[in-house]
Amino acid sequence: MSRGYFITFEGLDGSGKTTQLRRLAAWLEAEGHTVVTLRQPGGTALGDRVRSILLDSRSEATLGPIAPLAEMALMFADRAQAIHEIILPALDAGTIVLCDRYTDSSEAYQGAGRELGSERILAMHRSVCDNLQPDLTLLLLPSLESSLYRARRRNQRATQQKGTDENRFEREGDTFYRRIYTAYEAIAARDPHRVATIRDDASIEQIGERIREIVASRLPAQAARA
Ligand code: TYD
Repeated sequence: MSRGYFITFEGLDGSGKTTQLRRLAAWLEAEGHTVVTLRQPGGTALGDRVRSILLDSRSEATLGPIAPLAEMALMFADRAQAIHEIILPALDAGTIVLCDRYTDSSEAYQGAGRELGSERILAMHRSVCDNLQPDLTLLLLPSLESSLYRARRRNQRATQQKGTDENRFEREGDTFYRRIYTAYEAIAARDPHRVATIRDDASIEQIGERIREIVASRLPAQAARA
């Protein structure tokens, strides 16, 4: 089977991973690779609907509080659709897939943040995602304090500009985020071959450089070039 290369980006809100994903995609394309990018939740028509339910803090005004297990199941419904519609077809075509968040986010946010436990998330991943694992996960883990500061500033700006408060999660308190941070550290320790952790608070350019080095050293020679 011709197979591409599956890279996920992980980290707290405000860790800078979305910026780095875009930069990596541009670099890979300039190097002649074919790249597909997506984010979770979202990325498919179904996923975009699920995203607006999950992230819009106004959802709770109409739907009532979302139960943690319902939140987990919706994250996985979104993921199953993205795997079926985008990720597997792209990998089968030999493409590099860059995904902004994946199951590690569910383990960190629902498993640890909402305290559902890792085992439940991993079982769900086995059954709903056929245990499809990324080849490489880039975990951006600058200090908790700087991530929280950036995430809250961004959310405030979005609220002022658009009148929407997209992210229910960013209203959570520091203890919620501390649990997530610790869970990411545990995932990286459990799976050091898959997960490359970038801890420094370096500049966007320096972190981008580190990411390019890691990816260049790991990318199989046969990864598709356009
Ligand atoms: P998003 O606006 O994409 O934030 P970021 O740019 O920080 O990734 O929002 C995604 C939010 O959804 C983020 O707060 C993490 C949360 N999330 C989960 O709780 N579980 C999951 O499985 C996924 C994919 C995301």
